[in-house]
Amino acid sequence: MKKITISAPGKLMLFGEHAVVYNRPCIVTAVDQRMFMTIEQMPQKTFRLDAEDVFVMTYEKPMRLLGTGDLPKAVSFVEQAVKNFHEKYPMKFGVKVTTKSDFSAGFGFGSSSASTVCAIEGLARLNEVNLSKKEIFDLSYKTILAIQGSGSGFDVAAALYGGTLYFVTGGKVIQPMTIDDIPFFVGYTGFKADTPTIVKEVAERASKDPDLYKKIYDEIEQIVNSSLEAFLKRDWKKVGFLMNMNQKLLEKIGVSSAKLSAMIQAAQNAGAYGAKLSGAGVGDCMIAIAPPEKYQAIETAVTKIGGQVIHVQPNVAGVRKEI
Ligand code: PMV
Repeated sequence: MKKITISAPGKLMLFGEHAVVYNRPCIVTAVDQRMFMTIEQMPQKTFRLDAEDVFVMTYEKPMRLLGTGDLPKAVSFVEQAVKNFHEKYPMKFGVKVTTKSDFSAGFGFGSSSASTVCAIEGLARLNEVNLSKKEIFDLSYKTILAIQGSGSGFDVAAALYGGTLYFVTGGKVIQPMTIDDIPFFVGYTGFKADTPTIVKEVAERASKDPDLYKKIYDEIEQIVNSSLEAFLKRDWKKVGFLMNMNQKLLEKIGVSSAKLSAMIQAAQNAGAYGAKLSGAGVGDCMIAIAPPEKYQAIETAVTKIGGQVIHVQPNVAGVRKEI
Protein backbone atom coordinates (compact mmCIF):
# COMPACT_ATOMS: atom_id res chain seq x y z
CA MET A 1 0.00 0.00 0.00
CA LYS A 2 1.38 3.39 -0.98
CA LYS A 3 1.86 6.37 1.33
CA ILE A 4 2.83 10.03 0.86
CA THR A 5 3.42 13.09 3.06
CA ILE A 6 2.62 16.53 1.69
CA SER A 7 2.83 19.99 3.26
CA ALA A 8 1.31 23.36 2.37
CA PRO A 9 1.72 26.82 3.90
CA GLY A 10 -0.73 29.13 5.58
CA LYS A 11 -1.31 32.65 4.25
CA LEU A 12 -1.58 36.25 5.23
CA MET A 13 -3.59 38.79 3.26
CA LEU A 14 -1.57 41.93 2.57
CA PHE A 15 -4.04 44.02 0.52
CA GLY A 16 -7.51 43.77 -0.99
CA GLU A 17 -9.58 41.59 1.37
CA HIS A 18 -13.35 41.67 0.84
CA ALA A 19 -13.05 43.50 -2.49
CA VAL A 20 -11.41 40.31 -3.84
CA VAL A 21 -14.68 38.44 -3.27
CA TYR A 22 -16.18 40.80 -5.91
CA ASN A 23 -13.92 40.43 -8.91
CA ARG A 24 -11.13 42.65 -7.68
CA PRO A 25 -7.45 41.82 -7.05
CA CYS A 26 -5.63 41.21 -3.78
CA ILE A 27 -2.06 40.57 -2.65
CA VAL A 28 -1.40 37.54 -0.45
CA THR A 29 1.77 36.01 0.93
CA ALA A 30 2.38 32.39 2.01
CA VAL A 31 3.73 32.15 5.58
CA ASP A 32 6.01 29.61 7.24
CA GLN A 33 3.32 27.89 9.26
CA ARG A 34 2.64 24.65 7.45
CA MET A 35 0.03 21.94 7.41
CA PHE A 36 1.47 18.41 7.05
CA MET A 37 -0.67 15.58 5.73
CA THR A 38 0.14 11.90 5.35
CA ILE A 39 -2.14 9.92 3.04
CA GLU A 40 -2.00 6.11 2.99
CA GLN A 41 -3.88 3.74 0.76
CA MET A 42 -6.05 1.22 2.62
CA PRO A 43 -7.34 -2.08 1.17
CA GLN A 44 -10.84 -1.54 2.55
CA LYS A 45 -12.84 1.23 0.86
CA THR A 46 -13.07 3.58 3.81
CA PHE A 47 -11.99 7.14 4.52
CA ARG A 48 -10.26 7.60 7.84
CA LEU A 49 -9.03 10.85 9.38
CA ASP A 50 -6.80 11.52 12.37
CA ALA A 51 -6.24 15.22 13.04
CA GLU A 52 -5.11 15.51 16.61
CA ASP A 53 -4.59 19.31 16.46
CA VAL A 54 -8.35 19.70 16.06
CA PHE A 55 -9.21 16.75 18.32
CA VAL A 56 -10.33 14.41 15.56
CA MET A 57 -9.29 10.81 16.24
CA THR A 58 -10.17 7.78 14.13
CA TYR A 59 -13.02 9.43 12.23
CA GLU A 60 -14.16 6.80 9.74
CA LYS A 61 -16.69 6.50 6.90
CA PRO A 62 -17.21 4.24 3.87
CA MET A 63 -15.92 5.97 0.71
CA ARG A 64 -19.35 5.74 -0.91
CA LEU A 65 -20.83 7.90 1.89
CA LEU A 66 -18.25 10.70 1.63
CA GLY A 67 -19.82 14.11 2.08
CA THR A 68 -23.11 12.76 3.43
CA GLY A 69 -24.61 13.51 6.83
CA ASP A 70 -23.53 16.33 9.13
CA LEU A 71 -19.81 16.85 8.65
CA PRO A 72 -17.98 18.08 11.74
CA LYS A 73 -16.21 21.34 10.79
CA ALA A 74 -12.78 19.93 11.58
CA VAL A 75 -13.13 17.09 9.05
CA SER A 76 -15.29 18.78 6.44
CA PHE A 77 -12.61 20.21 4.13
CA VAL A 78 -10.51 17.03 3.99
CA GLU A 79 -13.56 14.79 3.55
CA GLN A 80 -14.99 17.02 0.81
CA ALA A 81 -11.59 17.15 -0.93
CA VAL A 82 -11.36 13.34 -0.94
CA LYS A 83 -14.95 13.15 -2.22
CA ASN A 84 -14.31 15.64 -5.05
CA PHE A 85 -11.12 13.86 -6.09
CA HIS A 86 -12.74 10.40 -5.91
CA GLU A 87 -15.70 11.56 -8.03
CA LYS A 88 -13.40 12.82 -10.78
CA TYR A 89 -10.69 10.15 -10.51
CA PRO A 90 -12.29 7.06 -8.91
CA MET A 91 -9.87 5.30 -6.54
CA LYS A 92 -9.66 1.54 -6.08
CA PHE A 93 -8.53 1.90 -2.47
CA GLY A 94 -9.62 3.59 0.70
CA VAL A 95 -7.49 6.34 2.28
CA LYS A 96 -6.18 7.02 5.75
CA VAL A 97 -5.34 10.71 6.26
CA THR A 98 -3.32 12.05 9.17
CA THR A 99 -2.74 15.79 9.63
CA LYS A 100 -0.40 17.72 11.85
CA SER A 101 -0.18 21.47 11.74
CA ASP A 102 2.40 24.07 12.76
CA PHE A 103 -0.28 26.61 13.35
CA SER A 104 -3.26 27.16 15.53
CA ALA A 105 -6.48 27.26 13.49
CA GLY A 106 -7.31 30.28 15.64
CA PHE A 107 -4.91 32.73 14.00
CA GLY A 108 -6.79 32.61 10.72
CA PHE A 109 -3.72 31.53 8.74
CA GLY A 110 -5.81 29.30 6.52
CA SER A 111 -5.65 25.76 7.84
CA SER A 112 -8.75 24.79 5.82
CA SER A 113 -7.27 25.82 2.49
CA ALA A 114 -3.85 24.35 3.34
CA SER A 115 -5.40 20.98 4.25
CA THR A 116 -7.63 21.01 1.15
CA VAL A 117 -4.65 21.65 -1.12
CA CYS A 118 -2.58 18.95 0.67
CA ALA A 119 -5.40 16.44 0.15
CA ILE A 120 -5.89 17.13 -3.58
CA GLU A 121 -2.16 17.32 -4.37
CA GLY A 122 -1.44 14.23 -2.24
CA LEU A 123 -4.23 12.15 -3.81
CA ALA A 124 -3.13 13.16 -7.31
CA ARG A 125 0.45 12.06 -6.61
CA LEU A 126 -0.57 8.88 -4.80
CA ASN A 127 -2.84 7.83 -7.66
CA GLU A 128 -0.41 9.01 -10.33
CA VAL A 129 -2.91 11.40 -11.85
CA ASN A 130 -0.99 14.14 -13.58
CA LEU A 131 -2.71 17.43 -12.71
CA SER A 132 -1.55 20.95 -13.56
CA LYS A 133 -1.39 23.58 -10.82
CA LYS A 134 -4.52 25.20 -12.23
CA GLU A 135 -6.39 21.87 -12.14
CA ILE A 136 -5.37 21.40 -8.50
CA PHE A 137 -6.48 24.98 -7.81
CA ASP A 138 -9.88 24.40 -9.44
CA LEU A 139 -10.58 21.15 -7.58
CA SER A 140 -9.45 22.66 -4.26
CA TYR A 141 -11.44 25.85 -4.79
CA LYS A 142 -14.52 23.80 -5.66
CA THR A 143 -14.03 21.98 -2.33
CA ILE A 144 -13.83 25.24 -0.36
CA LEU A 145 -16.95 26.62 -2.06
CA ALA A 146 -18.88 23.40 -1.36
CA ILE A 147 -18.20 23.77 2.36
CA GLN A 148 -18.13 27.52 2.85
CA GLY A 149 -20.42 28.74 0.10
CA SER A 150 -18.28 31.84 -0.49
CA GLY A 151 -14.67 32.89 -0.83
CA SER A 152 -12.31 34.26 -3.44
CA GLY A 153 -9.86 31.31 -3.38
CA PHE A 154 -6.87 33.54 -2.49
CA ASP A 155 -5.98 31.19 0.38
CA VAL A 156 -6.02 28.16 -1.93
CA ALA A 157 -3.67 29.96 -4.34
CA ALA A 158 -1.25 30.84 -1.51
CA ALA A 159 -1.19 27.24 -0.24
CA LEU A 160 -0.61 25.92 -3.76
CA TYR A 161 1.75 28.41 -5.39
CA GLY A 162 3.47 29.83 -2.29
CA GLY A 163 5.48 33.08 -2.49
CA THR A 164 3.63 36.36 -2.75
CA LEU A 165 0.84 36.58 -5.30
CA TYR A 166 -1.26 39.13 -7.11
CA PHE A 167 -4.55 37.27 -7.27
CA VAL A 168 -7.97 37.94 -8.80
CA THR A 169 -11.20 36.24 -7.67
CA GLY A 170 -11.52 32.54 -8.46
CA GLY A 171 -7.98 32.36 -9.82
CA LYS A 172 -8.71 34.52 -12.90
CA VAL A 173 -5.21 35.91 -12.38
CA ILE A 174 -2.56 34.22 -10.23
CA GLN A 175 0.63 36.18 -10.72
CA PRO A 176 3.70 35.38 -8.61
CA MET A 177 5.57 38.51 -7.47
CA THR A 178 9.34 38.49 -7.32
CA ILE A 179 10.15 39.87 -3.91
CA ASP A 180 12.41 38.28 -1.33
CA ASP A 181 11.52 39.81 1.98
CA ILE A 182 8.72 41.96 3.38
CA PRO A 183 9.51 44.02 6.48
CA PHE A 184 6.26 43.30 8.27
CA PHE A 185 4.95 42.86 11.74
CA VAL A 186 1.94 40.68 12.65
CA GLY A 187 -0.25 41.08 15.73
CA TYR A 188 -3.13 38.80 16.76
CA THR A 189 -6.21 40.26 18.44
CA GLY A 190 -6.80 37.17 20.55
CA PHE A 191 -9.92 35.97 18.85
CA LYS A 192 -10.89 34.29 15.61
CA ALA A 193 -13.84 35.63 13.71
CA ASP A 194 -15.81 33.42 11.34
CA THR A 195 -14.91 34.50 7.79
CA PRO A 196 -18.06 33.26 5.93
CA THR A 197 -20.25 35.05 8.50
CA ILE A 198 -18.38 38.33 8.04
CA VAL A 199 -18.46 38.02 4.24
CA LYS A 200 -22.23 37.48 4.47
CA GLU A 201 -22.71 40.51 6.73
CA VAL A 202 -20.73 42.70 4.34
CA ALA A 203 -22.88 41.44 1.44
CA GLU A 204 -26.03 42.34 3.39
CA ARG A 205 -24.79 45.86 4.07
CA ALA A 206 -23.69 46.22 0.43
CA SER A 207 -27.15 45.22 -0.84
CA LYS A 208 -28.55 48.30 0.93
CA ASP A 209 -26.08 50.68 -0.72
CA PRO A 210 -24.60 48.97 -3.80
CA ASP A 211 -23.21 52.17 -5.35
CA LEU A 212 -21.19 53.02 -2.25
CA TYR A 213 -19.76 49.50 -1.97
CA LYS A 214 -18.90 49.42 -5.67
CA LYS A 215 -17.04 52.71 -5.26
CA ILE A 216 -15.17 51.40 -2.20
CA TYR A 217 -14.20 48.16 -3.97
CA ASP A 218 -13.01 50.16 -6.99
CA GLU A 219 -10.85 52.30 -4.68
CA ILE A 220 -9.45 49.17 -3.03
CA GLU A 221 -8.62 47.82 -6.50
CA GLN A 222 -6.60 50.96 -7.24
CA ILE A 223 -4.78 50.64 -3.92
CA VAL A 224 -3.93 47.00 -4.66
CA ASN A 225 -2.60 47.92 -8.10
CA SER A 226 -0.48 50.77 -6.68
CA SER A 227 0.81 48.49 -3.94
CA LEU A 228 1.90 45.92 -6.54
CA GLU A 229 4.18 48.57 -8.05
CA ALA A 230 5.39 49.75 -4.64
CA PHE A 231 6.20 46.16 -3.57
CA LEU A 232 8.20 45.52 -6.71
CA LYS A 233 10.18 48.73 -6.13
CA ARG A 234 10.59 47.80 -2.43
CA ASP A 235 9.17 51.23 -1.62
CA TRP A 236 8.07 50.28 1.89
CA LYS A 237 7.04 53.83 2.83
CA LYS A 238 4.59 53.79 -0.05
CA VAL A 239 3.38 50.28 0.85
CA GLY A 240 2.73 51.51 4.40
CA PHE A 241 0.90 54.61 3.16
CA LEU A 242 -1.30 52.41 0.97
CA MET A 243 -2.00 50.10 3.92
CA ASN A 244 -3.34 53.05 5.90
CA MET A 245 -5.60 53.96 2.96
CA ASN A 246 -6.82 50.36 2.61
CA GLN A 247 -7.57 50.25 6.35
CA LYS A 248 -9.77 53.38 6.12
CA LEU A 249 -11.86 51.71 3.41
CA LEU A 250 -12.15 48.50 5.46
CA GLU A 251 -13.43 50.61 8.35
CA LYS A 252 -16.05 52.08 6.00
CA ILE A 253 -17.41 48.62 5.18
CA GLY A 254 -17.58 47.85 8.89
CA VAL A 255 -15.03 45.06 9.30
CA SER A 256 -12.58 46.66 11.72
CA SER A 257 -13.15 46.51 15.48
CA ALA A 258 -12.12 48.54 18.52
CA LYS A 259 -9.30 46.09 19.28
CA LEU A 260 -8.02 45.98 15.69
CA SER A 261 -8.18 49.77 15.34
CA ALA A 262 -6.34 50.24 18.64
CA MET A 263 -3.57 47.80 17.63
CA ILE A 264 -3.25 49.44 14.20
CA GLN A 265 -3.03 52.89 15.76
CA ALA A 266 -0.49 51.68 18.32
CA ALA A 267 1.72 50.36 15.50
CA GLN A 268 1.35 53.58 13.51
CA ASN A 269 2.23 55.70 16.56
CA ALA A 270 5.24 53.52 17.33
CA GLY A 271 6.81 54.24 13.94
CA ALA A 272 5.24 51.86 11.39
CA TYR A 273 5.01 53.16 7.82
CA GLY A 274 1.46 51.90 7.83
CA ALA A 275 -0.87 49.22 9.21
CA LYS A 276 -4.16 47.51 8.50
CA LEU A 277 -6.24 44.52 9.43
CA SER A 278 -5.51 41.31 7.53
CA GLY A 279 -8.21 38.91 6.34
CA ALA A 280 -11.90 39.05 7.12
CA GLY A 281 -11.48 41.47 10.05
CA VAL A 282 -13.45 41.87 13.27
CA GLY A 283 -10.85 39.62 14.98
CA ASP A 284 -7.84 37.73 13.62
CA CYS A 285 -4.70 39.69 12.80
CA MET A 286 -3.35 43.13 11.96
CA ILE A 287 -0.22 43.70 9.95
CA ALA A 288 2.17 46.63 9.76
CA ILE A 289 5.02 47.58 7.46
CA ALA A 290 7.84 49.16 9.39
CA PRO A 291 11.57 49.85 9.33
CA PRO A 292 13.23 46.98 11.28
CA GLU A 293 14.61 49.37 13.92
CA LYS A 294 11.02 50.18 14.94
CA TYR A 295 9.93 46.56 15.48
CA GLN A 296 10.74 46.54 19.18
CA ALA A 297 8.78 49.73 19.85
CA ILE A 298 5.83 48.42 17.83
CA GLU A 299 5.93 45.09 19.66
CA THR A 300 5.89 46.87 23.03
CA ALA A 301 3.03 49.19 22.01
CA VAL A 302 0.87 46.41 20.54
CA THR A 303 1.49 44.03 23.47
CA LYS A 304 0.66 46.76 25.97
CA ILE A 305 -2.90 46.94 24.67
CA GLY A 306 -3.39 43.17 24.69
CA GLY A 307 -2.25 42.20 21.20
CA GLN A 308 -0.15 39.07 20.68
CA VAL A 309 2.93 39.29 18.48
CA ILE A 310 3.22 36.50 15.92
CA HIS A 311 6.55 35.75 14.32
CA VAL A 312 6.04 34.50 10.80
CA GLN A 313 8.14 34.59 7.66
CA PRO A 314 6.41 35.63 4.43
CA ASN A 315 6.97 34.42 0.89
CA VAL A 316 7.59 30.72 1.61
CA ALA A 317 7.26 27.71 -0.75
CA GLY A 318 3.85 26.40 -1.76
CA VAL A 319 2.61 22.81 -1.53
CA ARG A 320 5.35 20.18 -1.69
CA LYS A 321 6.04 16.51 -1.17
CA GLU A 322 7.86 15.89 2.09
CA ILE A 323 8.35 12.09 2.00
O1 PMV B 1 -10.26 35.61 7.17
P1 PMV B 1 -9.31 35.19 6.14
O2 PMV B 1 -7.88 35.38 6.51
O3 PMV B 1 -9.57 33.83 5.61
O4 PMV B 1 -9.48 36.19 4.90
C1 PMV B 1 -10.72 36.40 4.28
C2 PMV B 1 -10.57 37.32 3.11
C3 PMV B 1 -11.87 37.69 2.42
O5 PMV B 1 -11.52 38.53 1.31
C4 PMV B 1 -12.77 38.49 3.33
C5 PMV B 1 -12.62 36.47 1.91
C6 PMV B 1 -12.01 35.81 0.70
O6 PMV B 1 -12.30 34.62 0.49
O7 PMV B 1 -11.28 36.44 -0.06
